[in-house]
Amino acid sequence: MASIKSLNKFFSIQDKAVFSNGKNNQTKLDLTTQHSKAEIYLHGAHLTQLTLNNNKVVWLSPDAIFDGTKAIRGGIPICWPWFGKASADNNLPQHGFARNSLIEVDSIIEQKNGDIVAALKLKNSETSMSIWPFKFELVVTFQLGEQFTISLSTHNLDSKPINISEAIHTYFAVEDIEHTRLVGLSDCHYFDQLSKKKSCQQGDVVFNQETDNIYDQPKNHFVIQTTNRKAVNIKHIGANAAVVWNPWNDKAASMADFTSNEYTKMLCVEAANIQPIEIAPGLKHTISQTIYV
Ligand code: BG6
Repeated sequence: MASIKSLNKFFSIQDKAVFSNGKNNQTKLDLTTQHSKAEIYLHGAHLTQLTLNNNKVVWLSPDAIFDGTKAIRGGIPICWPWFGKASADNNLPQHGFARNSLIEVDSIIEQKNGDIVAALKLKNSETSMSIWPFKFELVVTFQLGEQFTISLSTHNLDSKPINISEAIHTYFAVEDIEHTRLVGLSDCHYFDQLSKKKSCQQGDVVFNQETDNIYDQPKNHFVIQTTNRKAVNIKHIGANAAVVWNPWNDKAASMADFTSNEYTKMLCVEAANIQPIEIAPGLKHTISQTIYV
């Protein structure tokens, strides 16, 4: 693992992209532009804070664990190279291993328009090959400006095709989940992971109980409307599904890193590929989520 000093020497941009020791001495990167701020931990290439035009965009659990042993609760975890339970083996980590891996810095640049683009890279290792026997390169790119885009680009470096499922698991901050609407999914078919039933969404998604839906082939533009906050726009590219999740009171209370009442302040809207996608040898696949307020 490179030291903070060498990361700053090779990659920092004065006052705009700076590495430092974050919570529990975990390495983090702070990005600042004229309009926005982001904080990213190298553990899991995990964005933990995002402010666009002074609007707080993501929720971070006050009880999030930052010791590198598990995914940080809140912000934007990355689910890769599988979403949910691994089909091959129940003992493999839920939502894949990327969110629990230390991810290297590849490049940080400032564009002419003032946007900062930081790319982090995860490559296959002995550990990854022991649970997922494929050669790959995963590049996680964060572009911060007036709007924000996160993308996951999977490059198959193996001689055989690889199949992945994945998600950009964004925890959006909301004022009060019971006064929040998610617009853009009306008429979309979904699978309710709690009742295991398929349904069709009628109108906006509203929230008054635990929700865990996988929307199939949705449109690519959604809006979160919540009281006392500006509407948040979300655009997806390269995603065959959108996951909408709120654990509600009981499930939140059962999680060590989730103070129970905090479920009222968050809503996950995830860009995802749930039906596995096949990537041929040498090819790349990219999924992205763009957010603007
Ligand atoms: C969501 C899933 O994406 O992530 C839920 O649809 C799951 O089923 C949730 O409970 C949180 O997962 P985890 O592993 O971060 O607790």
